[in-house]
Amino acid sequence: MKALILSGGKGTRLRPLTYTGAKQLVPVANKPILWYGIEEIVASGITDIGIIISPETGKEVQAKTGSGEQFGAKITYILQEKPAGLAHAVQVALPFLENSPFLMYLGDNLIQQGDLSYFLKKFTNQQQDALILLRPVPNPSAFGVAKVDETGRVLELIEKPQVPPSNLALVGVYFFSHVIHDAITCIKPSARGELEITDAIQNLIDNQKQVVACQLEGWWLDTGKKDDLLEANRLILDTYLKTSILGEVDAQSHIIGRVKIGSQSQVINCTIRGPVIIGNNCHLEHCFIGPYSSIADNATVIDTDLEHSVLLEGAKIIGIHQRIIDSVIGQRAQLIVAPRRPKALRFLIGDDCQIELT
Ligand code: DAU
Repeated sequence: MKALILSGGKGTRLRPLTYTGAKQLVPVANKPILWYGIEEIVASGITDIGIIISPETGKEVQAKTGSGEQFGAKITYILQEKPAGLAHAVQVALPFLENSPFLMYLGDNLIQQGDLSYFLKKFTNQQQDALILLRPVPNPSAFGVAKVDETGRVLELIEKPQVPPSNLALVGVYFFSHVIHDAITCIKPSARGELEITDAIQNLIDNQKQVVACQLEGWWLDTGKKDDLLEANRLILDTYLKTSILGEVDAQSHIIGRVKIGSQSQVINCTIRGPVIIGNNCHLEHCFIGPYSSIADNATVIDTDLEHSVLLEGAKIIGIHQRIIDSVIGQRAQLIVAPRRPKALRFLIGDDCQIELT
């Protein structure tokens, strides 16, 4: 059994963060989203992993994630020249996959720990051609959607339907036998110009192949947008964070609940109410850091109240005397109250940024 992780694509929905990096490397609780997938796959017993990368962000994904040694896996990087669809990515990966059955995992998806092993066992024991996972969602039009009969058998799969036949979305985790490759050769690009894996699975259904759908009970997130990213951050901190204080915390600071502070970080006269993770080499002074916040390495936060937010590496927030909530601040971005006159707001804001002032 092999695994194929899709870490190419355009990442348009997470702009501006994805102008300078891969969306799969955006951190959740200070760890790239992609790495959660790799760890889950390895925990399920698969160690031969191919990762689809794009020409734009592939080098960064490769440099950060490496040969797989740190995960106990062997990683093969596979370049997809253009984001021509999930099924196209499988086509490009054929020399790596050969005839092997495989798990396909969308690199921007997060699922609850342990679920992968359960479904992998089910797939391998029953020798199916495809096993797909479904999950009820409030906004099915944003996903692939399944129409099932009263016994749970899949009748039809439709990618991003305007009028969804159900609220059951296709989760970005699929198990396939080699027959998927034949199905892919039979499909045509969709209206959005992509070779859709959803259409390839539909082709399997039309040809009476063994396609089994299971409902995923644990949580699942597609981290494609800001709010999904914040929700993933909340869930991961809530579920997995353990207290560990390596940095320096002065006597005036209060640490409440589960808080992790990395080495060489300094916390001076702050209240930190967990779950909160703070990376290495950060400087926090006169702050309140509220629940569900992740602050990456080398960040500076001074005279600021922050809650339910994600700060990326090297971000700087100084002197903002209003509470910052539900925010994602990019790498090296600066949000500063400067003592300069005349008193005014001064911005240097990149494309597609979102600033909400009250
Ligand atoms: O998240 C679940 C949904 O994922 C499913 O419900 C849909 O049926 C499925 O089509 C997919 O929809 P998205 O529109 O969310 O897919 P997205 O374009 O975000 O791509 C998913 C991952 O695959 C992401 O990590 C980027 C990568 N990718 C995407 C394309 C189009 C590639 O590596 N190559 C590609 O050509």
